[in-house]
Amino acid sequence: MESRIATAARVADIAPFHVMEVQTAARALEAAGRSIVHMEIGEPDFPTPAPVIAAAQAAIAGGDLYYTSALGLPALREAIAGHYRDHYGVQVAPERVIVTAGSSAALLLVMALIVNRDDQILLSDPAYPCNRHFVRVMEGEPVGIPVGPESNYQLTADLIDRHWSPATRGALIATPSNPTGTVVPQDEMRRIADLVDARGGQLVVDEIYLGLTYGLARGERPQSALAFADDAFVLSSFSKYFNMTGWRLGWVVAPERHVRDLEKLAQNLYISPASPSQRAALACFTPETLAITEERRRAFEARRDFLVPALRDIGFRIPVMPTGGFFVYADCSPFTDDSERFCREVLAGCGVAFTPGLDFGRHRAAQHVRFAYTIAMDKLEDGVARLRRYLGR
Ligand SMILES: Cc1ncc(COP(=O)(O)O)c(C=O)c1O
Repeated sequence: MESRIATAARVADIAPFHVMEVQTAARALEAAGRSIVHMEIGEPDFPTPAPVIAAAQAAIAGGDLYYTSALGLPALREAIAGHYRDHYGVQVAPERVIVTAGSSAALLLVMALIVNRDDQILLSDPAYPCNRHFVRVMEGEPVGIPVGPESNYQLTADLIDRHWSPATRGALIATPSNPTGTVVPQDEMRRIADLVDARGGQLVVDEIYLGLTYGLARGERPQSALAFADDAFVLSSFSKYFNMTGWRLGWVVAPERHVRDLEKLAQNLYISPASPSQRAALACFTPETLAITEERRRAFEARRDFLVPALRDIGFRIPVMPTGGFFVYADCSPFTDDSERFCREVLAGCGVAFTPGLDFGRHRAAQHVRFAYTIAMDKLEDGVARLRRYLGR
């Protein structure tokens, strides 16, 4: 007999990843013999750097694979703090670094820490879809604020101020952003941090794509919000810059007074981040690994520099040059007013897979698609040539 117990109401509000449906359809076409150019996939195509694999193999052979502290291996927390010092010029006490099972677990911990029932968290629309779901799972209310090219597809202090209500608990910003690849400028981030502070709220900044920033002058580094927002929760991850998506490892730098509560939550929710992954990640911050990841960052930049003008030339509108991550959020209204159908038709018509805007929110979602440049240059060129032929330019 079927169970009569209904699932909790929150489950109905959690949307599936539409991108997975695109990917499933693309794989089915491939299985039937079609050649497909994959521009829907949101993870780097590069393998995990060899020194990290070697460190993992040594750790597994060594056998010390027990639970670690819920906060992570002390040596890894120190290495992450050292990376902020050496790479971003920011002093962070290692005690404030909490290693997590991907930045996904960091988001889970932070939302569990700050969101009460019916509390509102302000987010951009479009945004990474899981963010609103983390808020909803905690019985909070995600408030998507429509953003467009006029604000770099990002929240501004002014937008946050105008949408702040008595129920607002904080704001969550991803910079560089998925799906838009755009960045909150430094001075704007400062204004946001000051405003959220003045409102007595909590700022959460997702910097998982910070290492993948482009267009900076030689020797210039991207800046972390930690440089001036000491009271923010700043999340990051080994997934993207270090090409370690499947290892499930990330971190959050938290204000010191919240570390103990985050530790309690981590202990109860998942005990500790994966031990082999943490031991492998100790090899991430060596000059050898950083030389590999830096070279790959340059490869992503070259792909962006090819793809954006090519898509514009085909007729997509990309009013703001993306400067981070590996995504281009393109206005496809010259071709369609239904981006979901457009993605299906283009996939069937010329074998190029990309993601409809629907995955990232409601604001003009039917007029946007996301291209990921997580494939080699020759494949990107093939994809662009197919789109050019199919879309008639
Ligand atoms: C903006 C953003 N935040 C967080 C995540 C979660 O990544 P992970 O849990 O692998 O660190 C992703 C993954 O695509 C993302 O795009």
